[in-house]
Amino acid sequence: MGVPKFRPEIQALNPYQVGRPIDEVARDIGLGSASIVKLTANESPDGPFPGVAEAVAAAVSGVNRYPDNDLWELSHALAGEIGVSREAVLFGAGSVGLIAEIMSAAAGPGTNVVYGWPSFVMYRFAATWSGAAHVEVPLDDAHELDLDALASAIDDATRVVIVCNPNNPTGTIKSGDEIEDFVAAVPEDVLVVVDEAYHEFVRDERYRSAVPVAAARPNVVVLRTFSKIYSLAGLRIGYAVGQPPTLAEIRKAQEPLTVTTVSQAAAHASLGQPEELERRVMANEAARHHLQGALIEREVEFVESHTNFIYFKMPGGDSAGLSDAFTARGVILRPMGGGWLRVTVGSEADNRQFVASLDAILSDSRA
Ligand SMILES: Cc1ncc(COP(=O)(O)O)c(C=O)c1O
Repeated sequence: MGVPKFRPEIQALNPYQVGRPIDEVARDIGLGSASIVKLTANESPDGPFPGVAEAVAAAVSGVNRYPDNDLWELSHALAGEIGVSREAVLFGAGSVGLIAEIMSAAAGPGTNVVYGWPSFVMYRFAATWSGAAHVEVPLDDAHELDLDALASAIDDATRVVIVCNPNNPTGTIKSGDEIEDFVAAVPEDVLVVVDEAYHEFVRDERYRSAVPVAAARPNVVVLRTFSKIYSLAGLRIGYAVGQPPTLAEIRKAQEPLTVTTVSQAAAHASLGQPEELERRVMANEAARHHLQGALIEREVEFVESHTNFIYFKMPGGDSAGLSDAFTARGVILRPMGGGWLRVTVGSEADNRQFVASLDAILSDSRA
């Protein structure tokens, strides 16, 4: 009997790991799920913004109808908030959905996609799904994107270059000036995607969003998400900002109706709350400083972060083994290779449990 044929490059992929579910880890280590903390996915420790639960409940009564495919109300509200026209915004089922759609619209067999590494692993998946090759350009010694090397890696086959700013998993930023210089160095027929999933967390004055650059140039698109500071990861909604003709091409590669009625209502209800946004940004910053302080006290190497996660390195060099050691203590982290791990800034209790397990693992390794 024959078996169905699949594309070999797809067969070679390992499915995306979102981090082990809390219940599975709880069963494995014999603890109740309440004593497990999941700090793998850079999710918010807080619930949605005030008013979102009510907006979601109200939206549910309309789900016998398909969603508004033009996202009329939400796109008006968002465009007003970020200072662009409604036509300069395109929503998707999370920014991951948009990344895949951008690749499918612009890249494909015989082309390549360039991005820094390590960076967000979905870039590799999305390039592969589209049939394009990927060119992964190592970060520099400071764990920052090497923009000169990225520009040099672009060749005649390059269709898309992705700049993750701030960069996941290292939490580093490039300045507004550096991004603008980089964009000016990229050929005009190559699409530059600036992934600003963690934009709201950044408080460094050298940093600037690339939204004005995307408004001014047809070959620049900025990606943002409601999954991080807005606490809507479970509803899958993100957006792209760019010139309307560029977004119109991407939209042709978009599956229709992926942004649900409920997600649209939730995102809309989250907008227009600058004080709540500021409060959450400040709380994250305080918690991140606290965690970084704990790493300094324990002489653990880490990269200064501008986001809601920290990239750190433990003695021993075995990221998977270290991640298992944290998991055995009820803390689920993301192993990154070479002894590096990434921890998401959690609630106060989550962070306490992380530091306690760090102490236990360090004292084992230093014993
Ligand atoms: C750099 C980066 N971009 C995009 C995303 C995905 O966001 P979304 O939930 O909107 O698909 C993430 C999620 O971790 C991320 O780290």
